[in-house]
Amino acid sequence: MQKVAAVTGGAQGIGKAVALGFARRGYAVAIADTDSEAGLEAVDGIVRAGGAAAFQRVDVSKEEQVHNWIVGIANEWKRVDVLVNNAGISRNGSMLELPLAQFDEVIGVNLRGAFVCAQQAAAVMKRQGSGAIVNMSSTRALMSEADTEAYSASKGGLLALTHAMAVSLGPYGIRVNAISPGWIETADWQKSSQRQTPVHSDRDKLQHPIGRVGTPEDAAAACLYLCGDEAGFITGQNLVIDGGMTV
Ligand code: NAI
Repeated sequence: MQKVAAVTGGAQGIGKAVALGFARRGYAVAIADTDSEAGLEAVDGIVRAGGAAAFQRVDVSKEEQVHNWIVGIANEWKRVDVLVNNAGISRNGSMLELPLAQFDEVIGVNLRGAFVCAQQAAAVMKRQGSGAIVNMSSTRALMSEADTEAYSASKGGLLALTHAMAVSLGPYGIRVNAISPGWIETADWQKSSQRQTPVHSDRDKLQHPIGRVGTPEDAAAACLYLCGDEAGFITGQNLVIDGGMTV
């Protein structure tokens, strides 16, 4: 039976590379994203490459939309083998002035959204007796920069959520791990580095001893590894992929 991977925020950036990576491994891929145009394009790319994929417009902070998405996948494809909680936003700004609504929004998508998706997907995985979940954290969970409180807290929370869910779901054959990327060159990163001076953009590269920022494919490879049989005894872990930035 064909395996099924569910990827949130899979319309662009890291999530898009993750979705394509699973499709290349023979998974049917279900992409959830708030950006329908990019989501449909991502599906098109997978189908043109010979894979199977479907898109649904889902805001991960809305539990009813998540519920309908996961139920739809289980009806259509009968299983959910992998969930990658990749959808994420940042609202950085002066710690002293950040509106609480923005703090809540970031936690709502990055942390609560991941929990809602995991809760729904794990119900299907429990029935199957197997599954793998990957939460997209960040090196921001490990080292801070000024005025990134909401984002850093959401990503730190994801690491604790990963530990807790690994313990809760292990008995059902479900593994839960996290990935913490350093800078990954996505449209979002490019936008923020363009806002910065060239010095800042060079600084991003220099922060990584490997001498470059990461690619979405670097992050996708880590996801594929953690969800594969070769990682069958790994759960509750955080795989840092940052070219050595945090060592
Ligand atoms: P991106 O902005 O390129 O892609 C994020 C995707 O998530 C977009 O397609 C967006 O439409 C979708 N999304 C946003 N809010 C959503 C919601 N409420 N429901 C469903 N989908 C939603 O971002 P990128 O760079 O690909 O990042 C992906 C993940 O990796 C995020 O969780 C981010 O925090 C994390 N990350 C990124 C790093 C980087 O340097 N790019 C570094 C470390 C972590």
